[in-house]
Amino acid sequence: MLLGTGGYLPETILTNAQLTETIDTTDEWIVERTGIRERRIAAPHETASSMAEIAAREALEAAGLAPNAVDLIIVGTATPDRIFPSTACLLQQRLDIRHCAAFDVQAACSGFIFALSIADQYIRSGNAKHVLVVGSELNSRLVDWSDRSTCILFGDGAGAAVLGAAREPGIFSTHINSDGQYKDLLYVSNPTNSRGEINESPYIKMQGNEVFKIAVNTLEHIVDETLDANGFVQSDIDWLVPHQANIRIIAATARKLKMPMEQVVVTLERQGNTSAASIPLALNEAIRDGRIRRGQILLMEAFGAGFAWGSALIRY
Ligand code: ACO
Repeated sequence: MLLGTGGYLPETILTNAQLTETIDTTDEWIVERTGIRERRIAAPHETASSMAEIAAREALEAAGLAPNAVDLIIVGTATPDRIFPSTACLLQQRLDIRHCAAFDVQAACSGFIFALSIADQYIRSGNAKHVLVVGSELNSRLVDWSDRSTCILFGDGAGAAVLGAAREPGIFSTHINSDGQYKDLLYVSNPTNSRGEINESPYIKMQGNEVFKIAVNTLEHIVDETLDANGFVQSDIDWLVPHQANIRIIAATARKLKMPMEQVVVTLERQGNTSAASIPLALNEAIRDGRIRRGQILLMEAFGAGFAWGSALIRY
């Protein structure tokens, strides 16, 4: 079950109005096409592991657990501090946790759902008792700030959840999937591959419109698959906690579920797309402000580069 959550957002706010000073865009265009009004930008000294540490400590405190009670750490990130060791190992060192496995999952915006799915398998099989699952992203360092079609979308932040074994499973099911044939619609090339000779931009490249259409279609299917797998119907869901890429994608999924937007946790207006951090940040916000209550049924879903997508149906 989900024992506790935590989150961290960097202090600096970058508004749409500020973006209009450097790129050819308007606040109206960004709000209408994406729903985003502002995003957080990490300070130069911050990293995926430093943000993950703050979110993780908050989640552990909410769970009432000491760091050394954790027996598995999984971090979803596409913006690791180092290529290796993993951000999860760096987080483990920061939390002073010894003798447990720690590794990263690279599934772009679906990183948290993929990490949650692995955590669920470890708990179900009895191989882990307390798993720390984190999504932490420094997207501001991956975007080309002169590319108006991508730089308006992303933000930085970290979210964390602590899962624990329980007699009644909190996670009913998780569903993850990938299709690498779409590798060129959304990607970041690895600059180290060119040994210093940069042949290609090291920043996010996205054919937004193509991604948008496939995201909407895919998410419609995965929500059906998730409900069917558990014998649930749409009205059983109390909250949709979606990945926060675009309000139009979120609204399409909510429409498919016949859910009013009041039952959807939306954070992208103030955070933009924080990639693997967006779901745990949304979850944490809605739990802490009292919207999500114990016993309620939550559907989480994400779609991102790969393409890689997934969902989780849980009882909080
Ligand atoms: N301001 C003003 N105009 C803009 C901007 C901007 N910031 N960006 C693009 N435009 C223009 C384009 O140049 C284009 O102009 P043209 O018609 O003269 O050529 C026009 O707006 C329409 O462009 P589209 O790309 O078709 O706009 P669209 O409505 O699709 O919105 C967006 C773009 C917001 C990127 C949308 O496609 C989207 O959200 N895509 C999905 C993103 C996503 O889900 N990504 C997956 C997760 S991210 C991850 O995994 C890391």
